[in-house]
Amino acid sequence: MAVREIIEVPDPRLREKSAPVDAIDDEVRSLVSDMFETMYAAPGIGLAAIQVAEPRRVVVIDLQDPEVEGGEPVRRPRAFINPEIVWASDRTVPYNEGCLSIPEQYAEVDRPDRVRARWTDLEGQVREEEMDGLLCVCLQHEIDHLDGVLFTDRLSRLKREMVMKKLAKYRAANKAA
Ligand code: NI
Repeated sequence: MAVREIIEVPDPRLREKSAPVDAIDDEVRSLVSDMFETMYAAPGIGLAAIQVAEPRRVVVIDLQDPEVEGGEPVRRPRAFINPEIVWASDRTVPYNEGCLSIPEQYAEVDRPDRVRARWTDLEGQVREEEMDGLLCVCLQHEIDHLDGVLFTDRLSRLKREMVMKKLAKYRAANKAA
């Protein structure tokens, strides 16, 4: 296992469309374990393979809350290979999203509040599940990454420009420090 470098905007690779995984082999398993390690180290609750510069349709998620045992959040790692949304509710809800590739920036994004997702798990089984809440938001955000879409694309132009301005400020401040 290894922590990999997370690529950030405006890296053009974040705009690539990721390719489907056709077999769960050792390479995919090792990519998944590196992705978990990278996500926990960041820390974050979700990561798409393209964020570690691997254009493959692989997503890892661990919401890591709200239960805490012995001072440590309970880990529930979930890997989604070739995930897709097969149904989405008409009703949308706003959620204050962030992204490890757009560090320290957050904005409210509207997405369907309930979806049915299909994916392949690490044992090669095709799974389907209806989900809501944070998992629903997070998986939609990560699937967007597989299609080269960032949460800022789903904001109004004005809000997007505000986020990018704040990001530039944040980076300048961090460089100076
Ligand atoms: Ni993201």
